[in-house]
Amino acid sequence: MKIRTLFVGLAAAAFSALALAQAPIVIKFSHVVAADTPKGKGSEFFAKRVAELTKGKAKVEVYANSSLYKDKEEMEALQLGAVHMLAPSLSKFGPLGVKEFEVFDFPYIFDDYTELHKITQGPIGASLLAKLEPKGIKGLAFWDNGFKSFSANTPIKTPADLKGKRMRIQSSKVLEEEYRTLGALPQVMAFSEVYQALQTGVVDGTDNPHSNLYTQKMHEVQKHMTITDHNYLGYAVIVNKKFWDGLPPELRAQLELAMKEATVYANKIALEENEQALEGVRKSGKTAIYVPTKEEKQAFKKAMAPVHLKMADRVGKDLLQSIYKETGFDPTKQ
Ligand code: LMR
Repeated sequence: MKIRTLFVGLAAAAFSALALAQAPIVIKFSHVVAADTPKGKGSEFFAKRVAELTKGKAKVEVYANSSLYKDKEEMEALQLGAVHMLAPSLSKFGPLGVKEFEVFDFPYIFDDYTELHKITQGPIGASLLAKLEPKGIKGLAFWDNGFKSFSANTPIKTPADLKGKRMRIQSSKVLEEEYRTLGALPQVMAFSEVYQALQTGVVDGTDNPHSNLYTQKMHEVQKHMTITDHNYLGYAVIVNKKFWDGLPPELRAQLELAMKEATVYANKIALEENEQALEGVRKSGKTAIYVPTKEEKQAFKKAMAPVHLKMADRVGKDLLQSIYKETGFDPTKQ
């Protein structure tokens, strides 16, 4: 009887050890936007390719819409290893101590995705990602969203229209200075709280790429928007370094390949997703969309240009100059 019990016990232990050996490695990927956005779709694409390439050995669980963590919490959770992967916007790395990422927040520094990709997909981008390593974070890729438009309940046709307006911003000192330069009152707020803050009048307005505005239904609580394209909003896909380095090398190589493919995919759909979202806003009839003339857009550029001088030290003059060199932007000629 005793021998039989021992045998059953050993068999059960062997079975659960086998089950454990075969259990997939779970990678929790948390983000704050809707599933139907460039980042939402990029992360789902990554999850699908990981399942295929690793033949189920790794499983990516995507948590959209701040369902797992909000902006500030997600960074802390990543460093603690409570979540494995994130794709925060580049405007959210300052509080982590990597201020250089705020270079992407300099107004009008990129005219379009082509100029931007010279940085994000080139050596400057790689050197920025490397700055995350001492923080226990490995940077895997840059993913696009798009260029931002202002929104409010009153028309914004000139920079002066932003004077005195309480505007929600992300946690970037460069963005803060940008709004102060325009005479507005910036308020840092988690993305998950913006809709309600707009609805209840805690803030008057904000800025977003169209995909974020539309999928959060902010157009339902903003009567006006202006296509200013004043800032770029994109992401760094990041992973807890200890977790990443501890993965079996073969599996890590498969994940790297999946990330490479997901990056191509996410960056390919970003423009179209934003165009479709703008169309959605237009069709809703809830928000008046203003397209500034060339001269009006130039007035925004000129009004915001001083930010470049004022904030150069925050990101480092050399980094800023190296980007100007690639994109041809000259803040003194706006
Ligand atoms: C925001 O907070 O406005 C954005 O960073 C949200 C996002 O992740 O696109």
